[in-house]
Amino acid sequence: MSLPKWNGRRPAGRIAYVDGRYVAHGAAGVHIEDRGLQLGDAVYEVCGIAGGRLMDEEEHLDRLERSLGEIEIAMPMPRPALKLVMRELVRRNAVRDGLLYLQVSRGVARRDHPIPKDSPRPSLILTARAIPAGEFEARRQIGVKVITRPDERWGRVDIKTVQLLPNLLAKTAARRAGAYEAWLVDDDGVVTEGSSTTAWIVDAEGNLRTRSLSNAILPGVTRRVILEAAAAAQLQVKEASFTPREAFAAREAFISSATGVMPVTAIDGTPIGDGKPGPLTRRVQELYALTSSERAGKSGA
Ligand code: PDD
Repeated sequence: MSLPKWNGRRPAGRIAYVDGRYVAHGAAGVHIEDRGLQLGDAVYEVCGIAGGRLMDEEEHLDRLERSLGEIEIAMPMPRPALKLVMRELVRRNAVRDGLLYLQVSRGVARRDHPIPKDSPRPSLILTARAIPAGEFEARRQIGVKVITRPDERWGRVDIKTVQLLPNLLAKTAARRAGAYEAWLVDDDGVVTEGSSTTAWIVDAEGNLRTRSLSNAILPGVTRRVILEAAAAAQLQVKEASFTPREAFAAREAFISSATGVMPVTAIDGTPIGDGKPGPLTRRVQELYALTSSERAGKSGA
């Protein structure tokens, strides 16, 4: 089925998708006994939208399927149907550049901790929002400040669950300290990742460095795209963790997520390099931008 192209007109209001229906955003809601709402029994994905197309759609759906599998929730619908819903929501909201949010909860059941024997039907909600040009652009150009905070999350943060309290508390601490992001530091004194981004440095040897995949970090889609692009461009890459001390002494630092690649100019008040976005970070931004239209195209939206 081919969907009509974006016609340039803004819709009358935002539209959300809730369990089979496209509804006015302001009137959209879930049941009070939705297990996502009461128990955090849900997983999510955030997908970039560029030029009206979904970025890295397959990779996000792969991760969604994996997250669901890890906590024994069924896919709410077959992947091709889900792709149609995602694209239709982008179209209905006439989003050219922005973000798509997708959440699957275990569904509605009388509140009780164990996974219900008779599985309820998983609940699916989606929203799409346009991001005004410039909202992230200034940060991508000038860079952002980061603080470090203890990583107080559970042991399976490779599963993208909606249980984000430690993340949002760390992010709030960052914002209150005048920083944009918090880098989380585990009990071994090593940086895991940002509260909602992947953490990177360019280390003293000039390696583009980010922690290797494990249960301790989310397998970032943007991380993967950057690693592939960096390898193709023959940049020196090292998948290894680093301490805050190594980060303070790094040549450069940056963060990545579905909202893009942002240089980090200071950590805990210590300027990184000369306190300005570094050349390798700029190169990664370029590589990421270069592949983005190709990656958006692959989704075939
Ligand atoms: N956050 N690490 C964490 C803890 C994240 O929450 C995210 C994404 C990332 C980067 O992953 P990706 O490159 O696939 O976006 C890393 C999303 C954007 C969010 O929670 O809003």
